[in-house]
Amino acid sequence: MESGWPKPFKVKVVEPIRLLPREERERLLEAAGYNVFNLRSQDVYVDLLTDSGTGAMSQAQWAALMEGDESYAGSRSFDLFRETVRQITGMPYVLPTHQGRAAEHVFFSVAVKAGDVVPNNNHFDTTRANLLALGARPVDLPVPEAADPEADLPFKGDMDLAALEGLLARERGRVPLVMLTLTNNTAAGQPVSLSNIRAVSQLAHAHGIPLILDAARHAENAYFIHEREPGQGGRSPLEIAREAFSLADGCLMSAKKDGLGNIGGFIALRDRELYERCRARLILVEGFPTYGGLAGRDLAALAVGLVEALDLDYLRDRVGQVRWLARRLREEGIPVYWPPGGHAVYVDAGRLLPHIPRENFPGQALVCALYLEGGIRAVEVGSVMLGKAARMELVRLAIPRRVYTREHLEWVVEAVQRVKAQAERLHGLRLVEGEGPLRHFVARFQPLA
Ligand code: F0G
Repeated sequence: MESGWPKPFKVKVVEPIRLLPREERERLLEAAGYNVFNLRSQDVYVDLLTDSGTGAMSQAQWAALMEGDESYAGSRSFDLFRETVRQITGMPYVLPTHQGRAAEHVFFSVAVKAGDVVPNNNHFDTTRANLLALGARPVDLPVPEAADPEADLPFKGDMDLAALEGLLARERGRVPLVMLTLTNNTAAGQPVSLSNIRAVSQLAHAHGIPLILDAARHAENAYFIHEREPGQGGRSPLEIAREAFSLADGCLMSAKKDGLGNIGGFIALRDRELYERCRARLILVEGFPTYGGLAGRDLAALAVGLVEALDLDYLRDRVGQVRWLARRLREEGIPVYWPPGGHAVYVDAGRLLPHIPRENFPGQALVCALYLEGGIRAVEVGSVMLGKAARMELVRLAIPRRVYTREHLEWVVEAVQRVKAQAERLHGLRLVEGEGPLRHFVARFQPLA
């Protein structure tokens, strides 16, 4: 049990939280249509809905906020931000956006057209939805092992190279770019190996097609490469990240994850002409290219956060916390996707609640039970979120960065134990409202009991 590693920070600012009485949680969940996205955060005790924008900033980031330059054009904070992104990615052309999906929207609306086919190891839901909105076809090409929640392999986030080769041959002329998501959020936050990034890059380039990284969690991905890939243990996460980016032609990043920001994102590119077309689009929908939907202070905090996120001690603690929770749950006999990924533990609701059929959403039933038992908010990653594309019925317990302590996570373990003890008595749900690829945000359900 990896219970001891030096914690690389202590707490300076405190945010009060409280656990409501059970009866109140029952009432609130019903009022929320059994969709925890509809709950107020003050009614949640441990919020594991997402690791996106929910992290705690460091004192260096708070200090940087004070120095934010709010000029409309030519902001000093933008220069700092751009320099940091250039240092990490090696890509000269940088456009800030207000978050990841805005980067997707701007970039795809320039680089993708109706009828195009865009492969990825797995598209995140907003990536998929943005492509569908343009009439393009997102295609997921995960390695087959990713669908096995027990296969203890180091890089289950990899892309299936043979499948990519087949697709590139079959869809000749219709693939404007290849994407790779680091880490693979939809496939349980599994990392992608450097050798896979290299091979995907070679294949794409052999067909004259650019490789674009979804870099939301690239630092956690670099940590896994440092830890697991032969020959990489002596390199820093920054060195590894730089090599990963060097294999790509561009990247889209939600900086709400490994940018350690509460908001923000960016597009970084090597190609000037593509950058100029994105820039024109950015001005239309996000803002002038030196702020792109962000305040100068946000850019200043991100310039610090992007560097902190690649610190080895930080990453050991970060990934260690996720791993600790996954191991404790597994010890208690809870089926969790294995090995754990970088930002979240994925509980296999399909196996925990085998009596609930897919059309009655075992994942959503578990999400509801976790709120009722422990005031915990998690998110379904199964048939509610992904519809028929779902391969597994998972529930994600995403850990915000630098926010919760071991005690909070122990509480989570206890609540999951209580849910397991009554698993057979839990019922599924019926979807009564919500459609389309982003329905999980707004859906409403009725319990079948
Ligand atoms: N790409 C990946 C891999 C993501 O995980 C996300 C967001 C995005 C793109 C979109 O970025 O939210 O800044 O617009 N993931 C969050 C999550 C929402 O909870 O996993 P965004």
